[in-house]
Amino acid sequence: MSDSQRPVLRAGMVGMGMIFDETYRPFFEATATRGLYDRQFGDVDVHMTAVASRTGSRAAKYQQQSAGKIAAFQNFSGDAAVENMLKEKLTFACVATPDNRHFEASKAILESGIHLLVEKPSVLSLQELDELNAIAARKNVLARVVYHKLLDPDHKKLRTLVADGVLQHVNNGYCSLLEPRQISGQQFSEWITGRNPGTYVAVHYIKLIDFTFGGRLKTVLCTGQRGLVGPANGPTWDSCQLRLIYEYESGREAAFDIHTSWVTPDNFPGYVEQEVQFRFDNGIWNGHSRKRGVELTVEGLTPFKMKNTINNHYNGSFLEPWGERSQRGYGVEVIDRFAREVAFVEHGGPASERVQRLESIRKLHYADLSADRQVVAAVEAMERILEQQAAGNPDCVARYDGRTITLH
Ligand SMILES: NC(=O)c1ccc[n+]([C@@H]2O[C@H](COP(=O)([O-])OP(=O)(O)OC[C@H]3O[C@@H](n4cnc5c(N)ncnc54)[C@H](O)[C@@H]3O)[C@@H](O)[C@H]2O)c1
Repeated sequence: MSDSQRPVLRAGMVGMGMIFDETYRPFFEATATRGLYDRQFGDVDVHMTAVASRTGSRAAKYQQQSAGKIAAFQNFSGDAAVENMLKEKLTFACVATPDNRHFEASKAILESGIHLLVEKPSVLSLQELDELNAIAARKNVLARVVYHKLLDPDHKKLRTLVADGVLQHVNNGYCSLLEPRQISGQQFSEWITGRNPGTYVAVHYIKLIDFTFGGRLKTVLCTGQRGLVGPANGPTWDSCQLRLIYEYESGREAAFDIHTSWVTPDNFPGYVEQEVQFRFDNGIWNGHSRKRGVELTVEGLTPFKMKNTINNHYNGSFLEPWGERSQRGYGVEVIDRFAREVAFVEHGGPASERVQRLESIRKLHYADLSADRQVVAAVEAMERILEQQAAGNPDCVARYDGRTITLH
């Protein structure tokens, strides 16, 4: 089939920072070569048509680097960037701006009748979430969020064992994710003020717990430490400890502690150190990012230019056995999966059945914004508890009744 006969998904991208480079860029580059194919929707092209960011400088650099690898794209920057991007007749758009700047861009995308993929945490409040879901329903488009840890083969196995009843009733557990100081000190210095590592990364585990074990979120507790990224009495957090309490249909409860930090010394062995333990009635699941992986030392390169514990499952660049260079992993797979969902809705059958196709994708809860309510409730509770602590009122407890959060 000639290029001109193939259907095209026209993609927009808001935010061209670290995560664009790690996951979206490899997806767009691989798809430019291979296309997107499935029996359900046929052979479809995906073009990154336009991007929007604050300054446009990284996008301009990428325009040069990507010439010949992907089709040319428009680069919009400044206050009207998103508005201008949305004039480019897009099929879907992705939002990868800092955590507290997801809502405005997502709202504008959905209001334009364009499918949305937003980075985690989708939004920071239930009110914002409900607003986005209402627009998506009114405009008949998908609103999806990226939780790539659900595609990690280890987490898929955990969920499979739970779903099959091999592991029975989770009672409690802990998760910890430690990031190096350069993340808070350099990478995110533009937007770190007033932010915390809990919202940024604990949310991965909130979703893992919520999606894997189900149940009803009842209570959220949180505390944190300050003094390294910002002043000891300010609103910017070095580390956070979050506790979630769930209740299940059986009437039994479970509690989960999630510890996060973005001030670990840059040369610590984990680089990004991730550990989980879940205790069941009849078993224990222990997961450790370093213990499952590789430790690599190269003089002059590790741990600063090259990570010494590389997660080759998330996103690695490889020389494939058949000679091809690739960049792949579950971080890229989750974007590819979303593009396939969009292709299925738009090209998976007659136009008269589009709504049924849309509904069938919305029922896939792993990524749908309509199924993200308990996660956003936990995030909003955490943000509000930390806000109270910064205002001199520490140790609040948040209770969630399925609709709203109340702070005590
Ligand atoms: N899926 C994951 O595991 C993962 C990993 C890292 C980051 N993230 C998420 O991705 C998002 C971005 O993180 P990052 O690490 O790429 O950040 P970054 O600071 O490296 O990049 C942010 C980008 O957003 C742009 N931007 C900022 N404000 C904007 C605005 N108002 N309008 C348009 N563009 C704007 C900046 O120009 C920059 O291109 C965050 O929400 C983060 O939580 C997800």
